[in-house]
Amino acid sequence: MPILLWSKTPYDQYKYGGKPQAISAAAIRGEDLFFGDELECSHCHGGFNFTDNVQHKRLAYPEIGYHNTGLYNLDGKGAYPADNAGIRAITGDAADEGKFRSPTLRNIAVTGPYMHDGSINSLREVIVKHYAVKGRAVSDGQAPSPLRDPLIDGFKITDAEVDDLLAFLESLTDQSFLTNPRHADPAKYH
Ligand code: HEC
Repeated sequence: MPILLWSKTPYDQYKYGGKPQAISAAAIRGEDLFFGDELECSHCHGGFNFTDNVQHKRLAYPEIGYHNTGLYNLDGKGAYPADNAGIRAITGDAADEGKFRSPTLRNIAVTGPYMHDGSINSLREVIVKHYAVKGRAVSDGQAPSPLRDPLIDGFKITDAEVDDLLAFLESLTDQSFLTNPRHADPAKYH
């Protein structure tokens, strides 16, 4: 029995809206990769908003997940650029270097460039040049960051599987939300 869905993303329509045809076979294969134990994406980007940062009325405690994904390793000890070191700037704890909240992946296909500093241009590069190689630091010629989360452990992925994972991520775009005049410039719609 389909439930009433506010979300119009093809993925939600497929998963909860009783419309098995709403996403492609490629996106379904990508869903398996995303939730599988080889890629581990869903451990940090899980739940209904694809993040481990969630707060709502029925939750006893807010979920707050900060992780270092190995984007930088400037000094071999995991350093991020000094002006952008994540929650270390707030806690002062060296172990918090490079830790950022896992963002939602809803509408991710239309919100590039990616990461807290916009340093990765495309979703393909996020997969191939960052997560698959134990963090982008490695693509920059550095060693994998010793501070990265243990789940960022690299993986082998074929070009066809990257396409599948991208198809899944694209199925999280809610066109009707993005084009809803109620979320637009109030000066234009009143
Ligand atoms: C250990 C937790 C963790 C795992 C596992 C993980 N992510 Fe992330 N992800 C994060 C965090 C934290 C950020 C933000 C990092 C930053 O901005 O420096 C992020 C950022 C991203 C972004 C960019 C979001 C934006 O708005 O810029 C994408 C896309 C993404 N992750 C996809 C994935 C995919 C696909 C996988 C699986 C291959 C994955 N993540 C695995 C924690 C994780």
